[in-house]
Amino acid sequence: MSLVFSPLALRTLRLKNRLAMSPMCQYSATEDGQVTDWHLLHYPTRALGGVGLVIVEATAVLPEGRISPFDLGIWSEEHLPGLRELARRIREAGAVPGIQLAHAGRKAGTSRPWEGGRPLGWEVVGPSPLPFAEGYPVPEPLDEAGMERILQAFVEGAKRALNAGFLVVELHMAHGYLLSSFLSPLSNQRADAYGGSRENRMRFPLEVARAVREVWPQELPLFVRVSATDWVEGGWGLEDTLAFARALKGLGVDLLDCSSGGVVPKARVPVAPGFQVPFADAVRKGVGMATGAVGLITTLEQAETILQAGSADLVLLGRVLLRDPFFPLRAAKALGEAPEVPPQYARAF
Ligand SMILES: Cc1cc2nc3c(=O)[nH]c(=O)nc-3n(C[C@H](O)[C@H](O)[C@H](O)COP(=O)(O)O)c2cc1C
Repeated sequence: MSLVFSPLALRTLRLKNRLAMSPMCQYSATEDGQVTDWHLLHYPTRALGGVGLVIVEATAVLPEGRISPFDLGIWSEEHLPGLRELARRIREAGAVPGIQLAHAGRKAGTSRPWEGGRPLGWEVVGPSPLPFAEGYPVPEPLDEAGMERILQAFVEGAKRALNAGFLVVELHMAHGYLLSSFLSPLSNQRADAYGGSRENRMRFPLEVARAVREVWPQELPLFVRVSATDWVEGGWGLEDTLAFARALKGLGVDLLDCSSGGVVPKARVPVAPGFQVPFADAVRKGVGMATGAVGLITTLEQAETILQAGSADLVLLGRVLLRDPFFPLRAAKALGEAPEVPPQYARAF
């Protein structure tokens, strides 16, 4: 049996295989963050297509933490019915439902990509008064009360995710959004206990991880997504990620989902097949922590090679699943596999 289609145990949770749908914003919620028919069609279809885990897109823990006005929200009890239905349908379609909890920080409040992706003039917050790029708002630096409010919003978000039936929570600490912007010296130039040294820059993200771990059930896994490097000289890099991973592991974070970039616009990213896999590999082998590999992984042979090399425990698929929800079932033959197929589709695969 291939590793791709062998089960993965994380705490008491069992994934039927090692393929996950990577979180991908759909910009299709209502303007108050509610699940719509789009989500109820989009996610369960990918679950039917064979991934073991579906991680629902960046879901905002506070309204001002949305990337766009059309992001999913989890900041109020009113979001629960829609999220519960979404989680139920993902499960019904054969995958474990997971959700990414996010605060966009200084990158919040932009129009949808297909409407230009430009700043809409929201008031945004961040570690320091440094805008993401020209034309972006200057973030209001968070004081300790502001940080505490956001930490509590992550905690409440995690409790609601559980209440809605999600079995994996991933904390978004990548791509220059709020927690990621605390980590990088390019976006965090604070002079207090939350800036300066690496230890100080890691402090707030670690406080959030610790607080969420306290309320997230011991039986269930907690993931963190990081940008393993800023791809900029003098920015956050792999050595920093290894130190951060050690600390997260110590707090009971179960898996580090290794992405990269997004902190500053000027980074030059050497995009190529599997280009972020070395980060997952370094964390897994250097820290002894489970990792997720993501980024331009577009064949199951590639996924199998990554797993066989011990570079990751889980392979996250993004755009390939937007193109073809049934990619895992369709591609399984190439690995000589016959994964479980919904009986209604048995004659198709
Ligand atoms: C439309 C779209 C939306 C995305 N939204 C998110 C998101 O909500 N959270 C996140 O961590 N990454 C997000 N990403 C990044 C993907 O999760 C993934 O890491 C990236 O697309 C690389 O994987 P791929 O080459 O398999 O697509 C998004 C990517 C796309 C294409």
